[in-house]
Amino acid sequence: MNGAFEKHILCIGAGYVGGPTMAMIAAKCPQYLVTIFDINEQKIRAWQTDNLPIFEPGLLNIVKRVRGKNLFFSTEIKENIRKADIIFVSVNTPTKSFGEGAGKSADLQYWEKTARDILKSSESDKIIVEKSTLPVRTASAMERILNSSDKKIKFEVVSNPEFLAEGTAIADLENPDRVLIGSQETESGRKARNEIVEIYANWVHRDKIITSNIWSSELSKLVANAFLAQRISSINSISALCEKTEADINEVANAVGKDSRICNKFLNASVGFGGSCFKKDILNLVYICESYGLNEVAEYWEHVVKINEYQQRRFVQNINKALFNTIANKRIALFGFAFKANTGDIRESPGIYIAKKLLEEQAHVVVTDPKALGNAKQELKGLSDKLEFEIEPYKAAKNAHAIAVVTEWDTYKTLDYGEIFQQMEKPAFIFDGRNILNHQRLY
Ligand code: UDX
Ligand code: UDX
Repeated sequence: MNGAFEKHILCIGAGYVGGPTMAMIAAKCPQYLVTIFDINEQKIRAWQTDNLPIFEPGLLNIVKRVRGKNLFFSTEIKENIRKADIIFVSVNTPTKSFGEGAGKSADLQYWEKTARDILKSSESDKIIVEKSTLPVRTASAMERILNSSDKKIKFEVVSNPEFLAEGTAIADLENPDRVLIGSQETESGRKARNEIVEIYANWVHRDKIITSNIWSSELSKLVANAFLAQRISSINSISALCEKTEADINEVANAVGKDSRICNKFLNASVGFGGSCFKKDILNLVYICESYGLNEVAEYWEHVVKINEYQQRRFVQNINKALFNTIANKRIALFGFAFKANTGDIRESPGIYIAKKLLEEQAHVVVTDPKALGNAKQELKGLSDKLEFEIEPYKAAKNAHAIAVVTEWDTYKTLDYGEIFQQMEKPAFIFDGRNILNHQRLY
């Protein structure tokens, strides 16, 4: 018991995953005290204001309901670890950029450092929950580190991957398709797993809470993301064939998706998938397969990423070709820069590649986005003096030769394109990289 609260939960990492997940747990479980730690002071300060460090519809409402009651944000690690019964770890696990496995394997340095911090400050038994997406078998490394001292403390490592998607995080957390909790199949492992089940059972129906062995849980997260990304690469590869054959990709997706075995979700052809997870997780899966000598399996999955790169490349090539193979000094408006609608996140956004390629061709690029303009500025700053940022899409398109729709924001679906075209250079083009309009290109 910690004071008036049944349990003290700590989350290390106040990012896109840790922040919303803990806010939901605090909101649904007033009996628990939830503290979120982050190494980044600026981020923690922002979580304490109404200007949260991430944009996520509905998040601020939830945070405001529980902040200062049973949800706290902190940069103090030692005391928070000492008091915690359960520690969720959701620090980032980027693709390794150096040494062995560079470009593919996960960089686990933050994870390992976190494990060592936990070990150093712990004075009582704890459950450590892997929230970050991790390579299968990370938990065994974790346990070795945690149990490497002669402190008489029992650490039980449990895997509880997060499946929320950005932009719908609150709905996904409130009503998940499933919650997955894996543990060692030992008595203490199952006991720890049950404790985590009891947290979610405060609001998620028990039928939706799946338990498994810890390796299945770790691997399932990688596989779920790989399957989702694979569907997008599948439909995107067919979009290239449609462009050659006068088949319409929307009609094909509709016809194929009506098969209940295939289903119609995640079949929206696009300029390619972005986001912090898909590419990183597939490359990680590829690396793991290679390290077990499963080269055919590795190659199969690697092609999902290759098709995604091909699709982005093809998009820029199509723009260039349509604009008479010369885009130097032509004004091109990018509608959207976020990797998907309803987020300000630009990690791995196709917009980054598109903007950079167009700037290489010396185009005059104007970026507009309702939530991601700040991040876009940071990403592209200093690249060219032919770069502009404009919050207002009508102004961004003024005198442009072309518009490229990069993000499927609802507001771009309802613009008055008649008015926009009047103000554009003629012939005016629109390249609908997000398939939100009924045409690929207009003159
Ligand atoms: C990240 C990974 O991208 C994802 O694969 C994983 O499942 C969870 O972690 P996300 O929450 O989107 O997801 O990352 P990010 O928004 O970067 O948040 C991670 C936070 O951890 C950052 O705020 C960072 O400052 C913090 N951090 C990192 C620490 O507090 N301590 C560290 O040692 C390292
Ligand atoms: C994804 C997974 O959905 C989530 O379960 C996991 O926890 C993290 O990774 P996220 O990256 O936030 O979530 O968004 P998602 O909605 O999956 O979209 C990823 C990318 O795919 C976006 O760039 C999106 O625009 C694109 N996409 C999605 C398509 O191009 N076509 C589609 O049909 C669906």
